[in-house]
Order: sequence, then C-alpha cells, then structure tokens
Amino acid sequence: MTTQSKTQKHRIQHISLRANAIQPSGIRKFFDLLSSIDGVISLGVGEPDYATPWHIRESAIESIEKGQTMYTSNSGMPELRKELARFLKNEYKVDYDPTSELLITVGCSEALDLTMRAIIDPGDEVIIPNPCFVAYGSCVTLAGGKPVHIPTYEVNNFEISAQDIEKYITNKTRAILIGYPSNPTGAVLRRQKLAEIAALAIKYDLTVISDEIYSKLVYGAEFTCFASLPGMKERTVFLGGFSKAYAMTGWRIGYAAAPKEIIAAMHKIHQYTMMCVSTMSQMAALEALKGDQDSVTEMVEDYNRRRQVMVKGLRDIGLTCYEPKGAFYCFPSIKCTGMTSEDFAEKLLSEEKVAVVPGSAFGKCGEGYIRCCYATSLADIEEALKRMGRFVKKNKK
Ligand SMILES: Cc1ncc(COP(=O)(O)O)c(C=O)c1O
Repeated sequence: MTTQSKTQKHRIQHISLRANAIQPSGIRKFFDLLSSIDGVISLGVGEPDYATPWHIRESAIESIEKGQTMYTSNSGMPELRKELARFLKNEYKVDYDPTSELLITVGCSEALDLTMRAIIDPGDEVIIPNPCFVAYGSCVTLAGGKPVHIPTYEVNNFEISAQDIEKYITNKTRAILIGYPSNPTGAVLRRQKLAEIAALAIKYDLTVISDEIYSKLVYGAEFTCFASLPGMKERTVFLGGFSKAYAMTGWRIGYAAAPKEIIAAMHKIHQYTMMCVSTMSQMAALEALKGDQDSVTEMVEDYNRRRQVMVKGLRDIGLTCYEPKGAFYCFPSIKCTGMTSEDFAEKLLSEEKVAVVPGSAFGKCGEGYIRCCYATSLADIEEALKRMGRFVKKNKK
C-alpha cells in the first residue's frame, strides 16, 4: 500500500469527534435482536398499537388526490400554525404568535435537535433528570454541549425537585431539559414542583426546554404546561407532537413553540436541513387538531385500563413498580433478581420471548429497572405477565 492510499483510507474512515461521542440507541440495538425470533410479545417500542384515526388518514389521502404535493412554507403551513396556536391557547392558556413563535418540525425529535443546535455553545451544560428519553443527552452532545444528568429515584416517584437541580447549576449551565409525563418512568410533576423549577430558571437566568409530547396521556393526574406558568413563556422552549396522542408516529410531525428569537434561529437550521415537513403529514396534523377528539379520549381510556392491569400484574409477580401517572410505560425494578437490566432483558427475550427495554438504555439511573410499554393489547399484556412471572420466579434471589 502506498503512503498516499494509506492516508486516503484513513480519511475515508474518519468519523467526527461528535459522532464518536454518542452511543447507538439502547432501544434500537436491542430491537435488532427481536426480528430474528418468532412468537415474541413486544412491550418494547414506545408507540401506540393503534393506527392513526380514520378521519386524520382521510384528510391526508384527500390532499394527495387534490395534488397538494409541493413544498410548504419552511415554518409549516400557515393554516396549521394558526390551528396549533388556537389549540395551545385552548388547552394550556398560552398565547403563541403563529407567524413568529411556532415551527412545525419532523417529529418532536427534530424540534429537540434544533433547540439544542440553536441555543447551545461549545461547553454549555444542560441539566437533565435521569432516567430520561434516549435522545436527550445525545442531542446536547451533538450540539457541542455537555449533558449533566441528575439522578431521580423510585422512592421519590422519579420526580425531580428544584433543590436537586440547584446543586448541579454552574456558571456554564445554559438550560434545564425536562420531559413530563416521563419516558421511561411515567412520572408527572405537580404544578407546585414545576413552579419551583420556574423560580430557579429566573434566579439563574436559564432556559427551560419542556418536552410535553405525552401531555394528553395522563391518568388522574393534573398536567401543567410549563410555559403556562407565570413568567415562563418567555424562557421556555415548548416541544410537542402528534406521534403519541394521535397515534401518528410514522407521519413524522411535531412542533416547537418558543420566543421568536429562538424560533428564528431554529428556523434557519430547519430551512437548510429539512426545508419543511411532508405536506400530507401537515394536512393530517391539521385535521388531528381541528377534528373530533373522541378517538384520543378512547385511546387514553384504553391505555389507562392496560396501565392498571400491567401495574397490578407486575406487582403480583413480585416486582416493585411505581404507579405511572402518564405516558404509556411501566418501569418496574428487577433488582430482586440481582441481574443487570440488560442481562434481564436479553434472558427474558431468549427464554420467554417477551421483549422489554433495559432501564440502562435511559441512563445510569435506569439500571436495575426495565421499561414495559403497555400500548399493546390486553391479551398480549396478560400473556407477557404470565411469562414474566415464570421468569422472575426462576431468577429471584
Ligand atoms: C419523551 C419523548 N420525546 C420525544 C419523542 C419523539 O417523538 P416524535 O415521534 O414526535 O419524534 C419521543 C418518542 O418516543 C419521546 O418518548
């Protein structure tokens, strides 16, 4: 090999420091295993088992039939932004200007990425309660920032407090990233606790990024929109989407609502990377907001029934399990088996054909837990519990 070809090979294989700094998602890694095994019951992937309600699908079909197949405004269709502003005002009593304070994005995922790239400078710290959604830390790292994970514990219902956060604030702290209802724990923060975080944000002049994608999936708990707290609209980046409540994961549509300077910066990045969200998905989202909400109510009632069955079932087989107040996950402890959460999940899959996600995929504080998604049929939940019961009995220390 000549010196030149050696150098070329090296260059071709070079991967950036930022890409090297993040790990593949612990969820995806695990689910690659799944496809090779027959008869598996999956409590794994965090998505509704329902198809998108018909009236929403029909509006997208109609838009295709009408030939609405061009790009839209980069920010998202004006009608959709107007309808979203109306929705946010009705649901949460927060007023957003549809022209300058809203951005339609490729899922809540893009909104999260854009937020970090728009507000983080190299070395800036972002405080994140842990365990947390798998993308949070990586998005901060990719933007050149430093995720600062703060532990939350089952004994405290996986809630974070302002006092916990304050201990981790430094002169590099730029933002606090919270996501309630929480994936993976199902925790929801009460208004008072959020108000204390709001006071902290004012005291230290921090931005709060609030991922509220599960806002409609709460069970008997009060949901508070962070931006609706006094003085918070101007320092909150509110992230939301359609994937969970409207069973629209595959449409890839979400949004960000924030002060106009932040939306303008996010818009610049979005303009060069995504241009706009698929036109059909925007038509579908418009119908989701404008149309009948009965299907959402029915799905939430159904999730609630499944939640109760799963919590009881997990406790009956001898696992301690915090009762989730929102989203569609249970996060039971598997510490009684003495296994790591990854070993537990791998063995459970190979021996009993039940797929769950190891808690460690959600960060250090997820070790000793597994995430079980109950957005699946009651029959599957019951069968999975039977198999897990056998497995726990065999492996309990
Ligand atoms: C907490 C949380 N935020 C954001 C997302 C991403 O949602 P979307 O499908 O809108 O990109 C998910 C998906 O699982 C999630 O659990």
